[in-house]
Amino acid sequence: METNGSKNRVITITSGKGGVGKTNIVSNLAIALAKFGKKILLLDADLGLGNLDILLGLKPKMNLSDVLMEGKNIKDMIIEGPMGVKILPASSGVLELTNLSENQKLQLLSELESLNGAFDILIIDTGAGISSNVMYFNIAAQDIIVIITPEPTSIHDSLALMKILSSNYDEKYFKVIVNFVRNPKEGFEVFKKLMSLIEESFEASVDYLGQISYDRNVSKAVRKQKAVIESFPDSTASMDFFKIAEKICAFQSKELPKGNIQFFWKQLLEEKKNKKRT
Ligand SMILES: Nc1ncnc2c1ncn2[C@@H]1O[C@H](COP(=O)(O)OP(=O)(O)O)[C@@H](O)[C@H]1O
Ligand SMILES: [Mg+2]
Repeated sequence: METNGSKNRVITITSGKGGVGKTNIVSNLAIALAKFGKKILLLDADLGLGNLDILLGLKPKMNLSDVLMEGKNIKDMIIEGPMGVKILPASSGVLELTNLSENQKLQLLSELESLNGAFDILIIDTGAGISSNVMYFNIAAQDIIVIITPEPTSIHDSLALMKILSSNYDEKYFKVIVNFVRNPKEGFEVFKKLMSLIEESFEASVDYLGQISYDRNVSKAVRKQKAVIESFPDSTASMDFFKIAEKICAFQSKELPKGNIQFFWKQLLEEKKNKKRT
């Protein structure tokens, strides 16, 4: 049963390193969750190099740069993708947006708040790295999902991201997906490696959300500008996406505090700021 508590959950899909599959994960999980009956809004927060719209073969007339630089209404930016998934596309090649100013951050928050109630889950593709934009979107989310791959470079870059979020922003909880795995055991092995590295250097608790197999159908689908879950629903990667989406549905209805009906970014950020001060 849907409860008010499951409204307006904010989830980020993030990573230290680029090219680990974030944008594909965002679009496929969104479609899987929509198939499970959730109303999904996607925010492409890779503001300088957004490509969520390209991946889904959409042609937006406007994007977030029109909101942030021209004062346009965010409602007019929303375009519809597969399975009724709503998308807020980012611009590509707009250097000014690679580091949002404090004013732009606040403006974006209040614009997003105006969408309160229009969806069950807002999924944010943060882009990669440790820039202030990436930090900002992660601290504004209830759930931070970190994407890693079996490559040590990806593990270490995500470790750096989590360390900053933990030490500087008091974010202590992370969920992890391992992408590009070659066998059924590899995902959990990589996750354990990450856990042991965290234990050595900072405080955080991490949950394993699952793995996504390396599957050539993913890049075949990208070339067709369609999500793999739509083009090849029976492929290994698609099955993996459905499994993870099921887990997200389970924690979505379980873990959010009761009575939490507002889209509460401002409040959340205030609380976090206060916590940091004390
Ligand atoms: N599970 C997978 N199997 C095979 N290729 C994948 C998989 N996930 C992502 N890819 C490929 O990896 C590349 C990077 O994916 P993308 O989603 O753009 O990463 P990011 O958003 O993290 O930069 C794309 O070319 C995509 O086709
Ligand atoms: Mg991307």
